[in-house]
Amino acid sequence: MSETQFGIPPKPADIAMKYSLAQTSPTAVQAVELVKDYGSGESTVHALRGVNVSFAQGAFTAIMGPSGSGKSTLMHTLAGLDSATSGRILFEGRDITHLKDNDLTLLRRESIGFIFQSFNLLPMFTAEQNILMPLTLAGKKPDRAWFARLVATLGLGDRLGHRPNELSGGQQQRVAIARALITKPTVVFADEPTGNLDSVSSAEVLDFLRTSVKELGQTVIMVTHDAVAASYADRAIVFSDGRIVADQPDPQAERMSELLNEVRLDLLQNTVSANVTAEQN
Ligand SMILES: Nc1ncnc2c1ncn2[C@@H]1O[C@H](COP(=O)(O)OP(=O)(O)O)[C@@H](O)[C@H]1O
Ligand SMILES: [Mg+2]
Repeated sequence: MSETQFGIPPKPADIAMKYSLAQTSPTAVQAVELVKDYGSGESTVHALRGVNVSFAQGAFTAIMGPSGSGKSTLMHTLAGLDSATSGRILFEGRDITHLKDNDLTLLRRESIGFIFQSFNLLPMFTAEQNILMPLTLAGKKPDRAWFARLVATLGLGDRLGHRPNELSGGQQQRVAIARALITKPTVVFADEPTGNLDSVSSAEVLDFLRTSVKELGQTVIMVTHDAVAASYADRAIVFSDGRIVADQPDPQAERMSELLNEVRLDLLQNTVSANVTAEQN
């Protein structure tokens, strides 16, 4: 486009700015010293203990780690669904840490797709209505070709008129995935998107996420406990007790299983030595 939306040609400085930003800042979302505590006093849970991580635009990143290590908390704070205790979150270079609710809602609606572990579909609406809901809420018309491609790729063609309780878990999750992608968001966050799928549908969904990264430049950040699922990603980060303990490029399933076993063993040894210390005192 050679003109702005108001018909005024952009100033050279604006073009240079846009260009240099695109070149020097290929980061979709970034956490800086991100801390998230739940509760206070002695019962405080330190879910994130000062996390520093950048997610590149157009990359597929897997997040792994034991249950309770902070994976969902990281996703929720990065996506503006939950507030940080301290630290900062940059979304396409913009500091969103202290955005007001209205601005956060807009950001989520325009730029973020979230696939929840528990689907979060609206029970009163059909699959098609659920998929289109983000656009309906924003008062926007769907791109029918994109809708058709999502529906076909996710194998939902003959389920569009069904309500969630008439769909299997796998079908509900595929509806949730289509809903997250319908707005063509900058970043898709997926929390265990294949957790309720059999291995065949799981492979289809992972192939679809990978294709959306490779062909559409989609940024995908996916939590998974499955080393095979992680192997579809370009990079895998391993969490333990609120910290990143490994950052693996081109993750292979076998390597990720090894890493996860090491992390579990470390946690076990720490727990045992903490108990021994407690008994000695
Ligand atoms: N809303 C909450 N209130 C209190 N503690 C929470 C809440 N959400 C998560 N936690 C705690 O924070 C830690 C990290 O949880 P979570 O991010 O859900 O881990 P994961 O997704 O890796 O299983 C856990 O100890 C969990 O119990
Ligand atoms: Mg979780």
